[in-house]
Amino acid sequence: MQPWTLLGVLSLLLAVPDALAVKSHDFKTCSQAGFCRRGRALSARAAEAKNTWKSPYSVDVSSIAITPNKAVFTAGVKSSLYPDIQFGLELRVHDDGVVRVRMDEINGLRKRYDEAASWALISEPTISQDITWTTGKKDIRAKYGNNEVVVAFEPLTVSLLRGGKPQIVLNGRGLLHMEHFRTKKVEETKTEEAAPVPEEGAEDAAEQAVFEAEKEVNPRAWFEGDTEDDWWEERFSTWTDSKPKGPESLSIDISFPSHGTIYGIPQHATRLALPTTAGDSPTFTDPYRLYNADVFEYLASSPMSLYGSIPILHAHSADSTVGIFHAVGSETWIDVSHASDKSTETHWISESGILDLFLMPGPTPADVFAQYSRLTGTPVLPPHWSLGYHQCRWNYISSDDVRTVQRRFDEEDMPVDVFWLDIEYAEEHKYFMWDAKNFPDPVEMTNDVAANGRKMVVIVDPHLKRTSNYPAFQEASDRKVLVMPSSGEGEYEGWCWSGSSSWIDFFNPNAWDWWKSLFKTTALKSGWSWTSSTTDIHIWNDMNEPSVFNGPEISMPRDNVHYGGWEHRDVHNINGMLFSNLTSKAVQERTDPPQRPFVLTRSFFAGSQRFGAMWTGDNLGTWEHMAVGIQMVLANGIGGMSFAGSDVGGFFGNPEPEMLVRWYQVGIFNPFLRAHAHIDTKRREPFLLEQPYKGIVKDLLRLRYTMLPVWYTAFRETSVTGVPVLRPHYVMFPKDTKGFTVDDQYFIGASGILVKPITTKGATETTVYLPEDEVYYDYFSHHVYRGAAKGKDITVQAELHQVPVFVRGGSIVPTRERPRRSSPLMKLDPFTLRVALSKAGSARGELYLDDGVSYAHEKGQFVWREFSAQTAKKTVRITTKDLGAEKKDAAVDGVALASYNPGNTFAETIKEVRVEKIVVEGLGGKPASVKVEGGKELVWEYAPGVAANGKGEGVAGVLTIKDPKVLVVKDWAIVIQM
Ligand code: GLC
Repeated sequence: MQPWTLLGVLSLLLAVPDALAVKSHDFKTCSQAGFCRRGRALSARAAEAKNTWKSPYSVDVSSIAITPNKAVFTAGVKSSLYPDIQFGLELRVHDDGVVRVRMDEINGLRKRYDEAASWALISEPTISQDITWTTGKKDIRAKYGNNEVVVAFEPLTVSLLRGGKPQIVLNGRGLLHMEHFRTKKVEETKTEEAAPVPEEGAEDAAEQAVFEAEKEVNPRAWFEGDTEDDWWEERFSTWTDSKPKGPESLSIDISFPSHGTIYGIPQHATRLALPTTAGDSPTFTDPYRLYNADVFEYLASSPMSLYGSIPILHAHSADSTVGIFHAVGSETWIDVSHASDKSTETHWISESGILDLFLMPGPTPADVFAQYSRLTGTPVLPPHWSLGYHQCRWNYISSDDVRTVQRRFDEEDMPVDVFWLDIEYAEEHKYFMWDAKNFPDPVEMTNDVAANGRKMVVIVDPHLKRTSNYPAFQEASDRKVLVMPSSGEGEYEGWCWSGSSSWIDFFNPNAWDWWKSLFKTTALKSGWSWTSSTTDIHIWNDMNEPSVFNGPEISMPRDNVHYGGWEHRDVHNINGMLFSNLTSKAVQERTDPPQRPFVLTRSFFAGSQRFGAMWTGDNLGTWEHMAVGIQMVLANGIGGMSFAGSDVGGFFGNPEPEMLVRWYQVGIFNPFLRAHAHIDTKRREPFLLEQPYKGIVKDLLRLRYTMLPVWYTAFRETSVTGVPVLRPHYVMFPKDTKGFTVDDQYFIGASGILVKPITTKGATETTVYLPEDEVYYDYFSHHVYRGAAKGKDITVQAELHQVPVFVRGGSIVPTRERPRRSSPLMKLDPFTLRVALSKAGSARGELYLDDGVSYAHEKGQFVWREFSAQTAKKTVRITTKDLGAEKKDAAVDGVALASYNPGNTFAETIKEVRVEKIVVEGLGGKPASVKVEGGKELVWEYAPGVAANGKGEGVAGVLTIKDPKVLVVKDWAIVIQM
């Protein structure tokens, strides 16, 4: 039986052919986007003119003003090409050393969009009180700590130096250009002929002479080009963008003279260390594009835009890491080139908006994460259950289907926490409105799922079907909170899953409380609310780029109008974030006191990390997509979106069992673990697999559940420090140059767990890179490998049932080994501690626990333990202490710890929870005795190691201590006498 109604079928039939037609040619290349073409042309002319290229922008020295606290300076900026146009520059140094550089047009014909930062930032950053700007003849500069920021007057450049060495340079290549607003009627100076291009092979001097001459004759054309290239109207395919404001793009070059590797600017399907797009033999011919887009069957290696955009990048070398965040919400293209392997040049071209750059001085990756987190917030600590396994497909077709799927998981003893419903649950794709035929009992269905401690996630997309029998649309229309067409009046209408639709304008504050009210599970005095749902239903926000099937580039026309009169072009990349942020608040506020919401979003922007999870969209069931999914999840983590994953199995296609198994291996080591599949695919729930595949996947899911304490502890740390949950090598070992390009293996938080998922067909072994002279233990076999000071590749077995996982020597890993149906049922389960001794005989680890659903942890209701092991005089002592109490006043951990007390009510609920097993790897031999300090001999056994060579390699000796009867919430010490 088909899951949809007749109207649903009709809208799907109308919609899908559109969607199926989407190919690369439905999306612009740089050369098809007027402002990108203009920006690249500027850069090409600069390259041709070599040393004679000089930026026309300079600081008007007479206008420099420094605020009384000396931390902020403002100055007028002029372009010699347009002496009548005024620009304003402002520099602020924040108290953590971040430098904010803003530039805007002053008294222009119109206003540039300057609100991107207000959506991205958590609050207005505090300005340093220790800065003194010194004005010289050629520049103004401020020194603070080891850093110095220098603004040169003519031409205008801004440099951030560390120890006297330039780290970040703005406009060093002279590509700064803020297209000022103009009126169409006023004829710009034009050259009659195209600017002469020097003949190939001409002498440098001759070339320079030509350019000097041209510059004299027509400096504007020399700089800006000689045609009004797509200034006033722009066509793409069958669409025309009316561009009522004319040209307003912004170009700026940002160089990293001391950094040869860069990471970030998610989301793109590329390697983590970003390949070049410009300069000599670029890997990609187009710049990286940031323009949130629903790209059907996206390529596994491409700089094309995808669903989300975070304009942040890290520039890295063995000496330091620095970062750039550009708070811009319009379409942005970024070219990357390397003048040498020790330096990187980037060129950012945005369609509209002000220049609002944050220069993050590092100098370590962790510092840059902290600096970015102070600006845009740390990733949210998600509900604990959301780290379990999510089972999704388009679609589970009825409430009985959901019940059957749940039963099958239980029959096979496979853990799962969440069942998902895609768009077919909704009558005619009117979200919230259950299709009564197939889902006659949504509340009972959800309760049946919740009876096992599980949750449901249901999709709510942002397109509202334009029909009078749909309260969400009708109320939005009555409230006038829908996005407007280019006329600035009425309701924009486009096509999506629900046929003819309109979109809520979340930039309009009048939409906020109303949107939140829709999610209430109780009836409201006025207005509609979702009474046929329960608080066990959480939300999936999809298509929020927004995806518009009959719109330009499958999105909204750029000249659509939002609240405040801003054009869609100004806010496009922010748009999707507001939808999921508001949904997240809606879910949070359904209950009093609030509960942690789970909202998955496809589209995102800087700041989205404060609200929920994302996934990498409609991937293909191919090995390439499986591999790049890992790199995309790592890159999204750099942008703060740690809670990320890719569709397990691949959205499109029918993966053969081998691929599906490997995909589960990738999935269980993603922060967000969800299997999902397109409506045309065959059912592929793990219980449908034949043996041995079914057994392997069951073991993998169970492995994920045993490691939930590791994941949750990692998420807590990320929610405080901003350092991502999945940590690439350069983050863990910033000085190890060999690790800079490693992106197919990574660490989970600070746990010491190193994972290298297999993403190739027929693999039986793989190489794993060990970055240091330390021992690494195979998670399953206790085989011990030793790295080397300058890094070393080891070869390990990777048959289908094997996923290479290692514990770094020096780590203590807490797990819960009892198989359960869902994660809430593990709440009182005992722990196993794996103590993986370093070559020096020590180890350390953390465990963080709280109720997993409420905000009580913010009031000190949590348990946060440290475990450590030390070897001295033939004695190994394993101890534990209360980190919550110890760090009570630590400012870095903020308010969460302020009211911590070890006897908090959450700790009370788990006061009986034991450590049931301690496994110690890497002891030199069989111990003489093992005791809880001050107690009797414990029950233990020792499996001797098998030395393979004299370097500590082979199989580790393993001591297993059985039920030492120590409690998680209490201090204790275990003494191993050798
Ligand atoms: C989009 C989503 C996909 C979902 C489908 C139907 O393609 O990316 O995950 O299944 O829409 O809602």
